Amino acid sequence: MKKFLYVFNYPPEDRDLCALEFKALFKDKYVSKCYLTNKDYSVDRSVFIKAKIDIWQIDKDFDNLISKVDKLHKNYVDFKVIYLKNEITHVEYQETLQKCKDISWAIEGSVNMSKPKHVIAITKLADKWICGYYHHGVPSWKKHDKKPHTFSNSLDIRLARTLINIAAGDNEKIRIVDPCCGMGTVVLEGLALGLDIEGFDISREISWLARKNLKYFGYDEYLINKVSIHDLQKHYDVAIMDIPYNLYTPITYQEQCQIIQSSRKICDKMIMVTFENMSKEINQAGFLIIDSCLRKKTEYVKFGRYIYVCI
Ligand SMILES: C[S@@+](CC[C@H](N)C(=O)[O-])C[C@H]1O[C@@H](n2cnc3c(N)ncnc32)[C@H](O)[C@@H]1O
Repeated sequence: MKKFLYVFNYPPEDRDLCALEFKALFKDKYVSKCYLTNKDYSVDRSVFIKAKIDIWQIDKDFDNLISKVDKLHKNYVDFKVIYLKNEITHVEYQETLQKCKDISWAIEGSVNMSKPKHVIAITKLADKWICGYYHHGVPSWKKHDKKPHTFSNSLDIRLARTLINIAAGDNEKIRIVDPCCGMGTVVLEGLALGLDIEGFDISREISWLARKNLKYFGYDEYLINKVSIHDLQKHYDVAIMDIPYNLYTPITYQEQCQIIQSSRKICDKMIMVTFENMSKEINQAGFLIIDSCLRKKTEYVKFGRYIYVCI
């Protein structure tokens, strides 16, 4: 029996990005917004996880499910049972209400519908009923949105968290670098997940402000340093490269290519973000693109940010 059910949600334009991250986290192909697995991630690990159920029991027959849950002797003060909708199987609203009531008799303790301290969820996936402890997705990653220093080049927090997940996947020991870290948006997300990450930026002013951002959230500010990618000596498992482009920091096409080449020397794997298709330049630097997606601003525009996974 699988131990966890995850439910994903996102605006249509983020589907491919969610699929890319899903592959890294769950080592599987993304096919549906519901996923049964034994992999245990915190519900706020990904911006796309809307809910998670720690599964207690699964059964095709609802009455059997009730007796199985009954035998677990679960006991909660102030609990509530909800029906978690999913895109695979539709159950009529009245039936969901009745089933929630029925299963709540199998749980000891006291019901509190208005201010529950614990939420138990049931759902029907294809022909199977599932019951377990419910976790609602909380956007804890949003706290870094309020970093004191930012600039127009800064990545949005949702993308930064997703890049970290694509880079680290299920490996907590991975060594990550953001060699052009700007204000440290990606570094902050890595640190929030307890990962081994450091950042560099060529600009004295920017790296100094990035340090202040880390310090503001209680992290070690010296994880950010003013060093050009061309001078980095250490080697990392993965680099997250938000390539400088000609906006706040003037840069030529040649310099962009040199940055990708220097990136090749410092990492085994690179997750790269660009504003235009740079697959040719990535390949020329000696990387192999194993996955990619275009993250558009809205469903209806053609342009957006390219995300490449390269080895
Ligand atoms: C697109 S910005 C990164 C933004 C960052 N992801 C954020 O969210 O704040 C690119 C950064 O690369 C830095 N940069 C440019 N050339 C560099 C080099 N040779 N080595 C390291 N950093 C460099 C720039 O100063 C700029 O801050």
